[in-house]
Amino acid sequence: MQKTLITGGAGYIGSHAAKALSQLGREVVVLDSLVAGHRDFLKWGEFENGDLADPAFLKSVFSKHDIGEVLHFAAFIAVGESVEKPELYYGNNVRNTLNLLDAMMAADVKRLVFSSTAAVYGEPVTDVIAEDHPLSPLSPYAWSKRMIEQILADFDHAYGLKHVCLRYFNAAGADLDGEIGERHQPETHLIPLILHAALGLRDNITIFGTDYPTPDGTCLRDYIHVTDLADAHVKALEYLIKGGDSRAFNLGNGNGFSVREIIDVAREVSGREIPVTESTRRPGDSPALVSSAAAARDILGWKPQFGDVRDIVRTAWNWHQKDLA
Ligand code: UFG
Repeated sequence: MQKTLITGGAGYIGSHAAKALSQLGREVVVLDSLVAGHRDFLKWGEFENGDLADPAFLKSVFSKHDIGEVLHFAAFIAVGESVEKPELYYGNNVRNTLNLLDAMMAADVKRLVFSSTAAVYGEPVTDVIAEDHPLSPLSPYAWSKRMIEQILADFDHAYGLKHVCLRYFNAAGADLDGEIGERHQPETHLIPLILHAALGLRDNITIFGTDYPTPDGTCLRDYIHVTDLADAHVKALEYLIKGGDSRAFNLGNGNGFSVREIIDVAREVSGREIPVTESTRRPGDSPALVSSAAAARDILGWKPQFGDVRDIVRTAWNWHQKDLA
């Protein structure tokens, strides 16, 4: 059986995909530098410890394993940092993806599922964002993802690289068995930070901006459970294996929740008080990012199982209590 290579498979979303694929009986090889990934998330498949910056290492991985397709998660993800240090994002995300593509082409591997982001849309011009919404990245991070999408299109044209770009909205929640979950260093994401406050590991949660043109003045986001994201990767692989054409799919639930609503859900789920402070807007934040994921449902047959934001926060709460104990 050919194996699936998962770059960044020791990270938050990549590890959930490694679990989902392994549970379906697929052979998985996780490639991770462990710069941001976690050794204790390596529970499924074989492991190759190395960096996409190293072409010789990549060549050795493709020679050693019979790889049928690649799930490419490995990337830096902090929007704010990308503004301060763009070279890190264009280097680690764009240049290293080119290294991966070179190794894939040399080994004649022509199927790739790529972790893209709703951030490629920038400031939305419609209430609900479909895949044909104009792309207008606001940060080097988002540009790096946009550039890779273009590179993949050009590699398809030149070499027949069939690919799916999955544009995640706000990934959240954790594995139902509590084996893996969200752990970033430093943590910048809303739900983990709220739960850190619930656990008393920080004094409060700061709301960035209360004067947005939204119902309660705080930003709306479309939170999607990480297990549903993992399932979408399985479906995207099946789509490519069946000969599907290259394209992008949004992954979200299609519902916007405000920062205040998420804090209230976390209070309900955790039974903790969770003190709040209010602050000014965080640079680069869109007022609202809400998906239409109709294409993923219709074409991939993807059906998110955890559309209720309470389930998303509950699984995150279970994970953080255990992980931070
Ligand atoms: N927020 C706060 N306080 C905090 C942290 C976040 O109020 O302490 C707010 C943000 O301003 C935003 C919302 O909570 O309105 C969600 O913020 P996150 O940082 O959790 O997520 P983002 O929407 O900024 O970013 C996420 C991913 C990015 C990706 C983006 C769009 O982290 O990688 O979605 O897809 F680019």
